[in-house]
Amino acid sequence: MDIFKVLIIFGVFSIFKFSEAKKPNIIFILADDYGWQDIGYHSSDIRTPTLDKLAGSGIRLENYYVQPICTPTRSQLMSGRYQIHTGLQHGIIWPTQPNGLPLSDPTVADKLKEAGYSTHMVGKWHLGFYKEEYLPINRGFDSYYGYLTGSEDYYTHKRCGGTPPSNDFYCGLDLRNNKEPVRNETGHYSAELFGEKAIQVIKDHNKNNPLFLYMAFQSVHAPLQVPERYLKYYKHVQDKDRRTYAGMVTAMDEAIFNLTEQLKAKGMWDDTILVFSTDNGGQFHAGGSNWPLRGMKATLWEGGMRGIGFVHSKLIPENRRGTVSKELYHVTDWFPTFVKGVAKGSLNGTKLDGHNIWDSIVHGRVSPRHEILHNIDILTPKSGKPIFPNYFDTSIRAAYRYRDWKIITGNPGAGIWYPKRFATNTSSTLFEKHNEQGKNCWLFNIRDDPEERVDLSLKRPEMVKFLLTRLSLLNETAVPVRYPAADPKANPELHGGVWGPWRK
Ligand SMILES: *[C@@H]1O[C@H](CO)[C@@H](O)[C@H](O)[C@H]1NC(C)=O
Ligand SMILES: *[C@@H]1O[C@H](CO)[C@@H](O)[C@H](O)[C@H]1NC(C)=O
Ligand SMILES: *[C@@H]1O[C@H](CO)[C@@H](O)[C@H](O)[C@H]1NC(C)=O
Ligand SMILES: *[C@@H]1O[C@H](CO)[C@@H](O)[C@H](O)[C@H]1NC(C)=O
Ligand SMILES: *[C@@H]1O[C@H](CO)[C@@H](O)[C@H](O)[C@H]1NC(C)=O
Repeated sequence: MDIFKVLIIFGVFSIFKFSEAKKPNIIFILADDYGWQDIGYHSSDIRTPTLDKLAGSGIRLENYYVQPICTPTRSQLMSGRYQIHTGLQHGIIWPTQPNGLPLSDPTVADKLKEAGYSTHMVGKWHLGFYKEEYLPINRGFDSYYGYLTGSEDYYTHKRCGGTPPSNDFYCGLDLRNNKEPVRNETGHYSAELFGEKAIQVIKDHNKNNPLFLYMAFQSVHAPLQVPERYLKYYKHVQDKDRRTYAGMVTAMDEAIFNLTEQLKAKGMWDDTILVFSTDNGGQFHAGGSNWPLRGMKATLWEGGMRGIGFVHSKLIPENRRGTVSKELYHVTDWFPTFVKGVAKGSLNGTKLDGHNIWDSIVHGRVSPRHEILHNIDILTPKSGKPIFPNYFDTSIRAAYRYRDWKIITGNPGAGIWYPKRFATNTSSTLFEKHNEQGKNCWLFNIRDDPEERVDLSLKRPEMVKFLLTRLSLLNETAVPVRYPAADPKANPELHGGVWGPWRK
């Protein structure tokens, strides 16, 4: 064989090896009910040294949106689709509801697996479990360790209480390793337990394959529980809920520090893309704060949906590190961004509402996204009378964003400007006035007025009509809402004291 042939074969071989090694690891960290104010870089007094450092040397996403509550954000992250396209428009999936993210659509984990990734999940699922097909292990993840419902005790890992829609009392363990219930971790605080499990995933990972790890913390959702040692920084905080919440945030921050140290120790850090996101706004009545935004978790105001988010990676060009992005992004965008933008995989078999925002983030280009359907929820009771009946019924709960403009209709939840929280002694008497009685349409220019203080709906009726037209067109693509009645057969007492699949 002549030397050129050898060189060519070697060249082809090394290009092959090179491109094989090029798929970066993706670590997606989702915090639960983590408020806009509650991260160091948003002028918070809560200690988040790890998050601040990662965001400070990464790219902060400051015009990034999630959904107002848990299941909706998680469903859109996993499917890349708006709620009107999955039937999950209304509320969350309650543990007794025979409901789940439709099996007809692939998840982002399915597609990353197809692109050669090892896929693992740790933490909160909340996308349905009434049949075994809906468990994470059957939705594209090679392994799963976590809980399936929306909230539970951080130490006992039990979910007990009145359970809508029926409000009957149910109680059961909710912790699983793949399909098997885990009964021996009582007393192990979840931020530490899940942190350790995520570290184990990295330790066990074969570095020849790219890794996708979806780390969905229980932190910092209610109930407010934290080991004593995280409270030492917050002795001066008057408000007990805020003090505990602050400790919970710091515990999560430490778990993320430990995770990044493990990635470094394993030699995976330099080709890892780490994305951090909240799932929705903070719960003011459980320690959280979204100051200075209006509203909170579960509302269609900015406080419910404008999310903390950032991307950190050594793969980001140096001149882009430490920057702040004001481009419009949405949680549905991660699906095509990861599969197409990062993994160079195929999107065949998908019908996505998300955009591939990878180039926009990494190179600072204009976002391909110009609009966001925040939601249309026909099951929430109507509010007031339609103001432009030929367009879209404004008594329906909905919100839609077009470039800088946002329209809200129906009953979006209390439009309160909750006070800044923390070292100050917050008290409910400080709440400013909120929604006017009977009003069901608001228009804001979010760029000029991110706090939603100046309603322009009366001044700009043409803009209102334009946005209502868009809402009406989007509504035509909606699938029927699925929000089934509670099924008493879900009762954990019938299943060995454990929440889990109850139908074949
Ligand atoms: C619980 O059991 C699993 C599986 O045997 C084991 O890996 C884990 O270390 C145990 N946890 C405790 C706290 O003993
Ligand atoms: C982080 O790692 C340290 C050292 O191993 C450990 O003591 C600590 O509990 C870990 N923190 C969390 C939140 O897992
Ligand atoms: C997409 O294409 C890949 C590779 O050809 C194939 O393995 C996979 O089954 C396809 N997926 C869908 C949903 O069509
Ligand atoms: C939205 O679409 C549904 C059908 O999916 C229809 O019943 C309803 O009238 C529409 N609402 C509006 C306000 O256009
Ligand atoms: C803070 O507010 C609580 C509840 O209103 C009150 O009991 C407490 O005395 C206040 N503390 C200070 C220092 O004002």
